[in-house]
Amino acid sequence: MTTQPQVRVFPRAEDLFEAAAEEFIRSANAAVREKGHFDVALSGGSTPKALYCLLANKPAGTIPWKEIRFFWGDERHVPPDDPESNYRMANEAMLSLVPLDSKNVFRVPAENPDASAAAADYEQTLRHTLLTGQDGLPRFDLILLGLGPDAHTASLFPGTKALHENSRLVVSNWVEKFNTDRITLTLPVIDNAAKVMFLVTGKDKASALSAVFDNHSNPEQFPAKLVQPRNGSLLWLLGQDAAAQVQRAS
Ligand code: 6PG
Repeated sequence: MTTQPQVRVFPRAEDLFEAAAEEFIRSANAAVREKGHFDVALSGGSTPKALYCLLANKPAGTIPWKEIRFFWGDERHVPPDDPESNYRMANEAMLSLVPLDSKNVFRVPAENPDASAAAADYEQTLRHTLLTGQDGLPRFDLILLGLGPDAHTASLFPGTKALHENSRLVVSNWVEKFNTDRITLTLPVIDNAAKVMFLVTGKDKASALSAVFDNHSNPEQFPAKLVQPRNGSLLWLLGQDAAAQVQRAS
């Protein structure tokens, strides 16, 4: 059963990130109460940095840092100290500043020159660390996602092979326009999450968002449209500029 997405639009970016922090904290505390830990896949790029900074500065005791297990939804094919690294961004903005348990940080081994091997390695990490259902799919409590101006999400880019991957959990995905491999969770994993939360700001995302919310657009061209949690919630936190062209799908 695919739930209807919840869409919230914020005139001020700081309100969007505060709402995102509240969602993160609520999900984390609920998961820790229920099962003793919280499994989250972080997103990369620039948008989520403000959320990570906000979370890192929350009062002690607000967030169960020691019980959170950190993963990534995707990673660039670079070492962890590279300026492009999603791990590096999250580590600098949040992870290095909070009292987490370092054994609970599961970064993608993207320093491996063989991107496919890095993806296979990370897939094993997911299989060995996360509970999987009968379908063999790990279930994240929360997956954070962003949106590119071309409506890619994670590293699921328009017209790329990974869009059609329905058995692997993690794959390397060649992205022609960047002339590089990326490593990404696949849609079966993303759609198995308990909650998926998109954070989208900036007018450069308005056209992509409009296409994603258009019932008639081609998902191949607008991959974020393919994110349809089967048994979980889908939440879009949108900046007013980014949402400017969204005619709420009827
Ligand atoms: C990445 C992200 C990617 C990102 C979008 C939006 O590795 O870059 O996973 O999917 O969320 O490209 O990026 P910005 O937040 O920088 O606009």
